[in-house]
Parts: sequence; C-alpha cells; structure tokens
Amino acid sequence: MMGQKTLLLLLSLLAVLEMASALGFYYGRSMPGSPYNISRTDPRIQKVVLDATFTFNNQSNDAYLFKPYAIYRAQRQVVKGVRYIVDFEISRTVCRKRDSNHNDLPNCDFQPEGRLHQTFRCHLEVWVIPWRKESITQVFFCQS
Ligand SMILES: *[C@@H]1O[C@H](CO)[C@@H](O)[C@H](O)[C@H]1NC(C)=O
Ligand SMILES: *[C@@H]1O[C@H](CO)[C@@H](O)[C@H](O)[C@H]1NC(C)=O
Repeated sequence: MMGQKTLLLLLSLLAVLEMASALGFYYGRSMPGSPYNISRTDPRIQKVVLDATFTFNNQSNDAYLFKPYAIYRAQRQVVKGVRYIVDFEISRTVCRKRDSNHNDLPNCDFQPEGRLHQTFRCHLEVWVIPWRKESITQVFFCQS
C-alpha cells in the first residue's frame, strides 16, 4: 500500500516536471548533458549570431555586408561552460563594405527582391568558457 502511494506520488511529480519543461519553465537552468532550446531572442544568442556574422563578412569576398535575418534554432548545452547551437539565416544588405563597417549594420536595409537579394543558412556551435573569458567557435558554416 505504502509502496503504491510512493509510486503514485513519483508519477505525478514526473508529470509535473514534464509539463514544466514542456512549458519552458526550465529555460536558462543547468541541465548538464544534452542541448535544450532557449529563446531565440536571448541576448547571448543574439551576440553569438552577430559575432559569427562579423566573421562571415570579414571572410567573404562580397562587396556588401550581410546581416542576420532570422534565427531558426537556439540551443544551450552545459558542458564545462556553455555551448550554444544556433541555426540562422543571414541576408545581403545594401551597405557596401567599402563605405561601411559593422557599426552601421543596424541601419543597413536588406537588399530588395532582385539580382542582389541573397540569403545563406548558417549553422553555428560556440563554446563559451566564462571563467577563462574564452569563446571557441567549434562549427560555423553557411550555405545558400
Ligand atoms: C578582418 O579582420 C581582420 C582582423 O581583425 C582585419 O584586420 C581586417 O581588416 C578584416 N577584414 C575585413 C574585410 O573586414
Ligand atoms: C526545439 O526547437 C526546434 C526548432 O525550433 C523545434 O523543432 C523542436 O521541436 C524544439 N524542441 C523542443 C523539445 O521543444
């Protein structure tokens, strides 16, 4: 009898936990091991996406700057620091690299539909180790 009650209690506790995590109450909490979704508007996600976009612009031969267009997946994983796993899209702006720099990006409009309109889908995995003030890009690629 006692055992049954304990089991029931455990089951309802599990149900509550499951519901809580389904509702996203666990956002930002440490769950070592597997990656879990966080808000796509999380400032830390915005920052890693922007940094990666700077890297993209820095390495591309394009005459124009690209900027983030949308974020499709934002995940966080706690492993000796924090890993961020992000899928996002960048799109070409009207700002020429020649006349602009990254500080101008917020004011750079996207290219209108037409010859110069182009987007890339990017995948990014960054490992941030706060106590070493270090941020290591483990995977970053973009494809059209
Ligand atoms: C890329 O980054 C390097 C080092 O930070 C800098 O010297 C260079 O001017 C940048 N190139 C472009 C095209 O932004
Ligand atoms: C996490 O986000 C992705 C992309 O938005 C979605 O497809 C997936 O169902 C989400 N997973 C959970 C457990 O919410």
